[in-house]
Amino acid sequence: MDTVLSGIRSTGNLHLGNYFGAVKNFIKMQDENNCYFFIADYHSLTTYPTPENLHNSVKSVLAEYLATGLDPEKSAIYVQSDVREITELYLLLNMNAYVGELERTTSFKDKVRTQPNNVNAGLLTYPVLMAADILIHKANKVPVGKDQEQNLEMARKFAKRFNHMYKVDYFPEPQPYNFGENLVKVPGLDGSGKMGKTAGNGIYLVDDDKAIRKKVMRAVTDSGPTEMNSPISEPIQNLFTLMELVSTPDTLNFFKEKYATCEIRYGDLKKQLAEDIINFVAPIRKNILEIQEDTEYLRKVAKMGAEKAIESASKTIKEVREIIGFREF
Ligand code: TYM
Repeated sequence: MDTVLSGIRSTGNLHLGNYFGAVKNFIKMQDENNCYFFIADYHSLTTYPTPENLHNSVKSVLAEYLATGLDPEKSAIYVQSDVREITELYLLLNMNAYVGELERTTSFKDKVRTQPNNVNAGLLTYPVLMAADILIHKANKVPVGKDQEQNLEMARKFAKRFNHMYKVDYFPEPQPYNFGENLVKVPGLDGSGKMGKTAGNGIYLVDDDKAIRKKVMRAVTDSGPTEMNSPISEPIQNLFTLMELVSTPDTLNFFKEKYATCEIRYGDLKKQLAEDIINFVAPIRKNILEIQEDTEYLRKVAKMGAEKAIESASKTIKEVREIIGFREF
């Protein structure tokens, strides 16, 4: 049996990128594996939420998780900060993480570029905390989107380094997982790049029908194909990629054919895409709104999840302490 773990930062609502990049695969794996899914609220502190915002985001992300089909009876669904053992492993792993390699990660370099006035140490050691999240349960499969590939590579590096340093075969090397397929990158609606939380280019699972229509109708396109079978530009390919996720193969082929023969009308493509996204999102949104109101249920789920996660995490910490040499007299 595999140990599967995935997580999401509690900065904002779940969007289609989160769902198709990580959550969907995780849901498929719940029945046959030892599964952990958590809300990374420590990670969200790098952006300084107010106490109210922090609490409300954690609560709404938990409701969103549950609304998508994550099952608290099958998986441990928990809040990262409820499992203090993670912070101890983070500290221990930090001793073997080199500043140079952390500075070279793409996401850190991006932050240095985009927010030069706030390059905090939490950002630098972000991949170490992620490795601690994964290794604390000795997870070997991690369903994530393409953007997390480098963080997973770092987690493997830290696992191997620990094993090598203490001459043990203790931590497995966690692999990003998408059923043997390439990792997913869900595009945004602004013509280039991925769907993200900060870029304002995303469709959220809580978006209502009107908001979805408006966003899709405003999506960036180009001036249209001018000759038969001309190459597809990035903004249009992005719309096709979204269609691949939410529409039927027939619908996708219909519009691709129209594109190839230069008969496509982007307005029609967008209308269809918007309706297919709405059909996908609406039932989930309905669940979210219901679950969000049920604070008692959310509390119960978080408590149950924390208990399961702490049980596994404290076993790991005990063993790691022993390996490192923290022993009783
Ligand atoms: P976060 O919160 O940015 O994203 C959560 C998950 O959603 C995936 N994702 C995407 N996948 C495809 N296309 C997109 N446009 C897209 N946008 C987001 C991400 O790849 C991720 O799987 N650091 C992590 C949270 C985390 C974590 C972990 C994940 C902390 N510890 C341990 C896995 C294991 C993060 O910020 O993800």
